[in-house]
Amino acid sequence: MQSSVPANEEKLDNVKDIKKEINLKDFEPKIIGFLCNWCSYAGADKAGSAQKPYSPNVNVIKVMCSGRIDPQFILKAFEKGADGVMILACHPGDCHYKEGNYRAVQRHRLLLRLLGQFGIEKERCRFDYVSAGEGDRFVAIINETVETVKKLGPLKKV
Ligand code: FES
Repeated sequence: MQSSVPANEEKLDNVKDIKKEINLKDFEPKIIGFLCNWCSYAGADKAGSAQKPYSPNVNVIKVMCSGRIDPQFILKAFEKGADGVMILACHPGDCHYKEGNYRAVQRHRLLLRLLGQFGIEKERCRFDYVSAGEGDRFVAIINETVETVKKLGPLKKV
């Protein structure tokens, strides 16, 4: 006679999978976007003034330069409940403080390694470039990032 325990376990797993799927469908990620004042924030402004729709999941924090973003800001954002973080900078060669965006991209690379040690997927922390005239690019990056984080699901507290 066969035991019914494995069959019950299988059903329980199915229920868990279904619940997980439902939760993921309803999941609206909280994303913090650090935007440099001179290019990326102006790009966001351009998208706004052109009334381009984009996902409302990103809370913007304006900084004067991406070089001002301390990796601790990003870790703090995750600690305080963000599911994702974005850093948007001026394109290479366009930083108003000359090298701020070069420093920011180097810090971001180092940070990605650190995030792995905390069990945070690197896709949750995006670095990209948006200029003042790139409203469409801003919208595309926002929407892509939100979709990526939605697929990853809520950040699990470590
Ligand atoms: S001023 Fe925009 S990245 Fe430095």
